[in-house]
Formats: sequence, structure tokens, C-alpha cells
Amino acid sequence: MDYKPDDEGAANMYHAMYKEHILDHYRHPRNSGTMEKPDATARGISKACGDFIDVFLRIKDNQLEDIKYDSIGCAISIASASILSEHIKGKPLDYIMKMTQDDILKLMNVQLSAAKMHCTLPALEATQGAIEIYRKGHATPADAGQPV
Ligand code: FES
Repeated sequence: MDYKPDDEGAANMYHAMYKEHILDHYRHPRNSGTMEKPDATARGISKACGDFIDVFLRIKDNQLEDIKYDSIGCAISIASASILSEHIKGKPLDYIMKMTQDDILKLMNVQLSAAKMHCTLPALEATQGAIEIYRKGHATPADAGQPV
């Protein structure tokens, strides 16, 4: 949404709309929970506060078929996990492995203070860590650079 710098009302409405978007994901987190017999699981921990998130992945044909997460964290942490999980479900593993914190911030579409930036990382780090673990467990000799 474009607005002129002097259009304070529109700016406030814009920020209120995206704040509401974040609150909705916090109050009604998508893909929250655990999973029976996941293909991979990992924990992401915020180095700043110690809050954590466990992710559970179901993987098929190098794509993320399903994701669940179980989180002990703040509103931003839970909202970012919810938004991330919606975005990556069904996506190729390579795509997910290339995602960065900037991608999450774009998906969240909200300005965060420097003090809250760390809250957006545990979900992505746990997901990428679980994919790494999955790939190590499913590596073929060709993946390891060994003759097949
Ligand atoms: Fe701990 Fe946000 S994840 S304060």
C-alpha cells in the first residue's frame, strides 16, 4: 500500500492492518502441534531468550508434505512460525534451505524492533536443521561424492 508521508491516518491504518495479521497468527497459529512418526524433527532455540520451537516434518519426493511445530515463545515467535509453516508447506526442500530471515520478515510484512528480530529465527533454523538431518539420513553414495 502506498501512502504519502503526511497521510498519518492511512499510515496508522496500514500498520494496524498488519499488526492484526500478526495477532491473528498468534491467536490462531496454523500447523501448530506435533506429528506421529515424522520424517525429521529438530529444535530451534533463540540465543537471546532461550525460547524454543520443535518442528516435525513429513517429506515426500524432496518436498515438504506437512509441517507441525510446538513452540514455547512470544507472540512474534509463534506468528512467524505460523506464517512460515503456511508458506513452506508443499515447497521443495531446496527452496526452504535457501530461505533467510529477510524472507520471513517479508512474509510477516511488519516492522520489528532490533530487540525482537531474534524471535523470527527459531522456526526457520529448526526447519532447516530438520531438513539437514533428514538429508544426512537419506544420503546416497552419489550425494557424498562417492562412486556409485
Ligand atoms: Fe523469546 Fe521472542 S522468542 S522473546
